[in-house]
Amino acid sequence: MNVYSVFVFAVLAISSVSGIINLGGGKKCGGNGGYGNGGYGSGIVIGSSRNIIYISKRHEKRVEEDSHSKYIYSNLAVSKHLGNNIFELASLLGISRVLHRIPVIFVYNQTYNEMLNRVNNSIPGLLDQYLFLNESIPRDVKSLDFNIKCCIFENPNKLLSINDRFLHLTGLYYQSFKYFSGMQNELKSYLRKIPEQSFRLPSSSSKNHISCIHIRRGDFFKVGFHVADERFIRKTIKLIRRKETHPGQQITFVLFGDDLPFLKHLQKTADKDQKTNYFVSKNSVTEDLVYAMNNCDSVFISGEF
Ligand SMILES: *[C@@H]1O[C@H](CO)[C@@H](O)[C@H](O)[C@H]1NC(C)=O
Ligand SMILES: *[C@@H]1O[C@H](CO)[C@@H](O)[C@H](O)[C@H]1NC(C)=O
Ligand SMILES: *[C@@H]1O[C@H](CO)[C@@H](O)[C@H](O)[C@H]1NC(C)=O
Repeated sequence: MNVYSVFVFAVLAISSVSGIINLGGGKKCGGNGGYGNGGYGSGIVIGSSRNIIYISKRHEKRVEEDSHSKYIYSNLAVSKHLGNNIFELASLLGISRVLHRIPVIFVYNQTYNEMLNRVNNSIPGLLDQYLFLNESIPRDVKSLDFNIKCCIFENPNKLLSINDRFLHLTGLYYQSFKYFSGMQNELKSYLRKIPEQSFRLPSSSSKNHISCIHIRRGDFFKVGFHVADERFIRKTIKLIRRKETHPGQQITFVLFGDDLPFLKHLQKTADKDQKTNYFVSKNSVTEDLVYAMNNCDSVFISGEF
């Protein structure tokens, strides 16, 4: 099963969510020492149609008619997981709106194409908001350190006074939902539309409280991050049961994650009673996002970013 940064899962699910519990650490995000700086090359040719590889309908006019348009782009954690990619692009879109700049992605190597395909499979509408250029990041554009500390919102308003036509930010990840606050419905509408009948998971209703438990383990073992163990998850499930559900409701826990044997073990050995059901999702990442958006009444995620 695919691994992805689960925070996106919670953010997209958030409308129906009464409680999100996230246990995460902090780390440095980007900066000039980070990756994403490679690939400097040819000069500025934004707007020259030769280099535009994909323009959504939204942008076609603006690029043709307005040579005064201003642009914004950032280093991107292109080689990371889908969740990181979506988060970054959603945040940068939010920042671009504040600054009235056209958000640009420089597609200058294969990793970028892989990232675009990955994101396009899950949330195509988000990419439609971007202008893509088949170019390296222009060499002669000054870059600016922004959002260098992980997960701490930095107000983009402070960039409003910059008048340069191109604004290159050196941050990465942009993991604060505040960058796209107020855009939740818009972002949700960008998700790929997939019918839910085939997901084989229960639907939320006033009679059925669904708690979505996302557990990321696989790659965290390798990099030495804290990994949620069985005891911890069981305590969490108890806590959610006590705090989030109402008497008389059917209580359903749906388990998601990258460690299927672990999830199945949890399901098999859970304390069951007539009112409590457990399901394990075997769906794709995109299907999980779509399901979570429509059905999770409570969300728990155990991943660091
Ligand atoms: C493409 O560029 C990104 C950012 O500089 C880098 O992380 C990635 O490894 C590069 N991919 C290839 C195939 O060179
Ligand atoms: C996204 O996928 C669709 C097909 O589903 C394709 O038409 C479109 O060009 C793709 N967009 C990008 C940016 O790759
Ligand atoms: C991008 O540019 C490269 C080199 O300039 C060219 O070989 C390639 O065909 C271009 N790709 C697209 C999709 O236009």
